Amino acid sequence: MNINGKHYRTIWIKEDDKKIVQIIDQRRLPHEFIIEDLKFVADVARAIKDMRVRGAGLIGATAGYGMYIAALEAPKNGFDNFMISAGNKLKNTRPTAVNLGWAIDRQLNAIKQSNNIEDKIKIAFETANNIADEDAEYCRMIGQHGLKIIRKLSREKKGEPVNILTHCNAGWLAFVDYGSATAPIYAAHDTGIKVHVWVDETRPQSQGAKLTAWELLNYGVPHHIIADNVGGHLMQHKMVDMCIVGTDRTTYTGDVANKIGTYLKALAAKANQVPFYVALPSSTFDWQMRDGVKEIPIEEREAEEVLYLDGLHDGKIEKVLIAPKGSPAVNYGFDVTPRKFITGLITERGVCKATEKDILNLYPEHK
Ligand code: MRU
Repeated sequence: MNINGKHYRTIWIKEDDKKIVQIIDQRRLPHEFIIEDLKFVADVARAIKDMRVRGAGLIGATAGYGMYIAALEAPKNGFDNFMISAGNKLKNTRPTAVNLGWAIDRQLNAIKQSNNIEDKIKIAFETANNIADEDAEYCRMIGQHGLKIIRKLSREKKGEPVNILTHCNAGWLAFVDYGSATAPIYAAHDTGIKVHVWVDETRPQSQGAKLTAWELLNYGVPHHIIADNVGGHLMQHKMVDMCIVGTDRTTYTGDVANKIGTYLKALAAKANQVPFYVALPSSTFDWQMRDGVKEIPIEEREAEEVLYLDGLHDGKIEKVLIAPKGSPAVNYGFDVTPRKFITGLITERGVCKATEKDILNLYPEHK
């Protein structure tokens, strides 16, 4: 994505110091664009936990680079044990996005290929870059497959704008580039297809209002931010042509974990015959879990995120209490949408139904 004329990925190795990884602190967006250095595994763990970086793809890429940083930090004696414990530390930061464990295990397997420490560091560097490059390329391909669906809708609407509802941020900021749910939208916009996006605000952390809206504005895609409860009304009144959301973990049977509130949108979509698509790279499939509702771990975060809001006031970011002092709150980060509510999965290999059979046909190596 270009920001002020410069192309940025969401994570990269510092140009003049290959031992430093740089990220954009997403907690400060859309009001401040701040680049942060990560030098130690503890910095990487904090960045994931505090959600300076977030979104399944970017969490995975950050964990990949985190393992490279761990390799630089590891003592010569006890290198492998240090790497395993760094991997566990990173895995414990956030439980729902499966890309996290996937990237760490990929790194641990890769560095096993050599017994030489210098080689292991080199392998960790290359593997981190491969994970990031693959994430960006897979999202680009998701864009091309999803574009076909939007193009068809645009033809059916005789060129009138295609209204797409999305939840949370499954955009460039949630991946290394392009995004999953946003990639087809950007691809459509690039080819001149008229699109308009309904952006769910996505309380409590407002990733829709803060991040997705900022991305779309920056890319020039027409959009409106809506409060979280508006989608059902819009669907009832035929103001939504399709929904596209991302996912943090999708079982190989097609159940989708995504930001809290996704399930309610899927229910409203089903009731109003609005197609409901989920966009994901293969790194977000869980090839072990069968029953998403029963098995996917759902992150619970601080109640404070529900009780307070933050935003710009007089040029400064400030936090305000919106609930009575003393009222408790609970904060479930994700919910699971069962496969029967999903029209299709848009992956880097193409679009398939959210069923075990169709997913495994697309990814036969996991049969
Ligand atoms: O808590 P976050 O911001 O890391 O969660 C991100 C999401 O749930 C997004 O909705 C997204 O679809 C999944 S990440 C591609």
